[in-house]
Amino acid sequence: MIYIYLFSIIVLVIGAAVFLWFLVWTVIIGDIRGAPFVASRRDKIRLMCDLAGIRSGLRVVDLGSGDGAILFEAARRGADAIGLEINPFLVWFSRIRAKRLGLRDKITILRQDFYSYPLGEVDAVLVYLWPETMDRLRDKFLRECRLGTKIISNAFPIKGWRAIMEKDDVFVYEIK
Ligand SMILES: C[S@@+](CC[C@H](N)C(=O)[O-])C[C@H]1O[C@@H](n2cnc3c(N)ncnc32)[C@H](O)[C@@H]1O
Repeated sequence: MIYIYLFSIIVLVIGAAVFLWFLVWTVIIGDIRGAPFVASRRDKIRLMCDLAGIRSGLRVVDLGSGDGAILFEAARRGADAIGLEINPFLVWFSRIRAKRLGLRDKITILRQDFYSYPLGEVDAVLVYLWPETMDRLRDKFLRECRLGTKIISNAFPIKGWRAIMEKDDVFVYEIK
């Protein structure tokens, strides 16, 4: 009997530690590095992809790809989608979902800080991040993105930039 109690306690402690670690990554570390994990709503994801004109042949990147939902929508539309995500749990979860959805060949999910990913080869950059994070990314966009690259931001505009389109708090910018 004592072994069953001991085993249960060990399982509980390990479960609590994993959950706590997940919370630390998802809420605290995500927040400090760019934004905590909050998923974009499905209708917003569809709108982002519509406004960005995402279609076959395009290469798109989601900076902080979370559960991968934006990548799945972009890949269903035929684009090659790259997700950059620091949270190991979300990387693992979204890779499994991509495989289950049969989209693995259209999607690459890297466990990487998005500040260090070069943006020179992408046609569209999708973001749902804190305004301060976008302030930091603004120079990177200008330095690295090709002319014509679209930046699509859910919820927060980029300070000092004029959007070429805006609908329901989705903002579209083009590098000119
Ligand atoms: C608000 S969520 C957006 C998730 C997804 N893009 C969406 O719209 O549903 C922001 C995500 O960015 C990730 N993140 C924050 N800072 C990051 C960084 N410096 N590099 C990579 N990912 C980061 C967080 O872990 C979180 O999953």
